Amino acid sequence: MALQNTNPITTTAWQKLQKHFQEMNTVSMKDMFKDDKTRAAQFHFQWNDFVVDYSKNIINKETITLLQELANEIQLKDAISKYFEGDIINQTENRAVLHTALRAKENATIKVEGENVIPEVFEVKEKIRSFTNEIVNGVRKGYSEKPFTDIVNIGIGGSDLGPAMVVEALQFYKNHLNVHFVSNVDGDHVNEIIKKLDPETTLFVIVSKTFTTQETLTNSETIKEWFLKSASQEDVAKHFVAVSTNLQKVTEFGINPENVFPMWDWVGGRFSLWSAVGLSISLAVGFDNYNELLNGANEMDEHFKTADFDKNIPVTLALLSIWYNNFFGAESEALIPYTQYLQKLAPYLQQGTMESNGKSVGRDGKPVNYQTGTIIWGEPGTNSQHAFFQLIHQGTKLIPTDFIGYVKPLYGNEDHHNKLMSNFFAQTEALMNGKTEAQVQAEFDKQGLATDKAEFLLPFKVFAGNKPTNTILIQKLTPKTLGSLVAMYEHKIFVQGIIWNIFSYDQWGVELGKQLANSILDEIQSNKVNAHDSSTEFLLNHFLKNK
Ligand code: F6P
Repeated sequence: MALQNTNPITTTAWQKLQKHFQEMNTVSMKDMFKDDKTRAAQFHFQWNDFVVDYSKNIINKETITLLQELANEIQLKDAISKYFEGDIINQTENRAVLHTALRAKENATIKVEGENVIPEVFEVKEKIRSFTNEIVNGVRKGYSEKPFTDIVNIGIGGSDLGPAMVVEALQFYKNHLNVHFVSNVDGDHVNEIIKKLDPETTLFVIVSKTFTTQETLTNSETIKEWFLKSASQEDVAKHFVAVSTNLQKVTEFGINPENVFPMWDWVGGRFSLWSAVGLSISLAVGFDNYNELLNGANEMDEHFKTADFDKNIPVTLALLSIWYNNFFGAESEALIPYTQYLQKLAPYLQQGTMESNGKSVGRDGKPVNYQTGTIIWGEPGTNSQHAFFQLIHQGTKLIPTDFIGYVKPLYGNEDHHNKLMSNFFAQTEALMNGKTEAQVQAEFDKQGLATDKAEFLLPFKVFAGNKPTNTILIQKLTPKTLGSLVAMYEHKIFVQGIIWNIFSYDQWGVELGKQLANSILDEIQSNKVNAHDSSTEFLLNHFLKNK
């Protein structure tokens, strides 16, 4: 069944939230913490290895109640059931959205068009398991009978970002295989990777759901050409495998159909790392770790599906984000992991969030009359503190920020970890409390600063504070907790799309640029510029004259 179709701003809860916002807009979190010592106890979740503290937000009990009323009025519970049960919720592409089926338990039943997909999912998982073991153990060898040492994932967007993010995040758990990622159609990217490779010992995993993506096909052809300088056409079958739904195109490329890992059209590209798209993850960290990643995601799925909204982590995070986006007018959200391992989390979630919810047409086919899609950005702490935190602390924009940190470091280096985590805690406290004129003046007095200097400097040293943050404190970075973390954000994206009354699982917005690039490519190749606007014509002519 189709999703409900309700403009959120026409709901009673929205009107109430608007009124409530007028009261909350001027409220100080610092005062709320002073007045109520139980605030942290009220506004946090403890779930498996996660603590999610959302008390440092500009909210009170009423805010949460009203946001939950909004979720109820929008019939979020019904939408969650449809999502997990394989209803066609991606209506513009006429597809179910079932990445959750990829991490479901073997005894689950999830039907697409009346067919239980779980047996197929487990067949592919078994194929991933045995292929991984053969490569990792050196049983499957290259054309010169040498075991593989390097894996190259060739893909872009969802066929690159997820595996690249996870392989980076789980490098502590990695085996001896070197894993590389080629994505950009920029030839310098592929050449830099090729430089590091030996064709005799490299396995290429071409990942493309459609097998029509220009970047992936161009990179694959370039790599094949390079490979064929040392090997024969027959050897291609030993060194190239593919993950795709397009068996015909894959076979045309020269890949042995036995070396094709299927995926399904009910898996969206940006949510596909749980499918065979994650093959390079399994190769990098071993099948058991890959499976743990899936188990972690499955546990978050169960939590999201079954917990009441007042105990539900993804629902709460999504509602808080709506609170800032739609009532406070926040334009973006930052994501700051206090671990270098998660340096690719923000770029990964940029696709998940912005390709999904960057829409301006409602499910009724009409332009929306409210803000949708948040802009996501971020870098690991403490590096980001020395880069853009100035703006978060003292700029003119409100930037709700998620802080993600771990209780235990992986190498057990206590000194570093204590320093890292002291920054983690200090930043959210500083963002919330700020620094008053009186505090700044007291510091000046202590330093004995001359009055004229103190008067001049004072306004620059004041921090307004009241900057909202969520603190996600996890016991340890493991495949399982990483799976739960990623699934948590996936469900946050889902909830927001439901409330904003948009279709989160299509991506028509990437098509126009692709189409124009194809016709401009013809012009570049034929050295003949067609009629464009004067800027594009001028730039193209300059390029062709000087290339
Ligand atoms: O950027 C558009 C997009 O369709 C993404 O949604 C997808 O992840 C990416 O291109 C790659 O597509 P494919 O896996 O079909 O090569």
